[in-house]
Amino acid sequence: MGMDRAKIAARIGEHLAFLQEMGIREIRVPKGKAARQGPGKIEGLEEIRIDLGDCTRCPLHQGRKQIVFGEGNSSADLVFVGEGPGRDEDLQGRPFVGRAGQLLDRILQAMGLRREEVYIANMVKCRPPGNRVPQKTEIDTCVPFLMRQLQAIRPRIVCTMGSVASQTLLEIQTPISRIRGKFHERHGLLILPTFHPAYLLRNPEKKREVWIDMKVILAKLGLEPPSRKSGIGSQ
Ligand code: URA
Ligand code: URA
Repeated sequence: MGMDRAKIAARIGEHLAFLQEMGIREIRVPKGKAARQGPGKIEGLEEIRIDLGDCTRCPLHQGRKQIVFGEGNSSADLVFVGEGPGRDEDLQGRPFVGRAGQLLDRILQAMGLRREEVYIANMVKCRPPGNRVPQKTEIDTCVPFLMRQLQAIRPRIVCTMGSVASQTLLEIQTPISRIRGKFHERHGLLILPTFHPAYLLRNPEKKREVWIDMKVILAKLGLEPPSRKSGIGSQ
């Protein structure tokens, strides 16, 4: 619709180059949940990435080095959503790879999950200058892509990390401390808000609450943490 073949071909070409840069050497068409939903057009993550293209829809594109689309299992039961890329993420084009990301990795490890098993994304896909909080118009421009990603993945649970992701997806202003750790249904999604790992770096005593929240998620998924002694740890 509205795009000519040459332009579509160019977009696909760009995207294949992007995958190659990521070290991806083959493309598998997922036989996942989306494919099983029967007739009707079901959009996959690849198509969404192509449509996003070299996005200039909001001013954040001006300061970014790379788009951070999100990564992980395209049919994950559990998706984590943060706020937006920071410096490391912008440089690497991958979500949660800096200090907060390392803490998220430890949380996943404590849950007995591998990073590749879940999907990780953000409210905005480009780094806000100086890591400021993304503005409403930036979020409003970017979140439709996240929503499409969530529709493609169809996770059982979306864990929103921090107040920006939690309040935006739940469309409420209630402080994160009052909404965390409980399931909320919105947009056909089951959402469990928790604190942001960057907040945990500044307030390590809150790890206890996040670990409680992660156990709520594991229970819903019918999983158990690897050992009773495990936790996010202190630091
Ligand atoms: N903080 C976020 O919210 N997202 C990232 O990807 C990294 C840090
Ligand atoms: N405020 C935030 O923005 N995030 C948290 O996780 C907690 C407080």
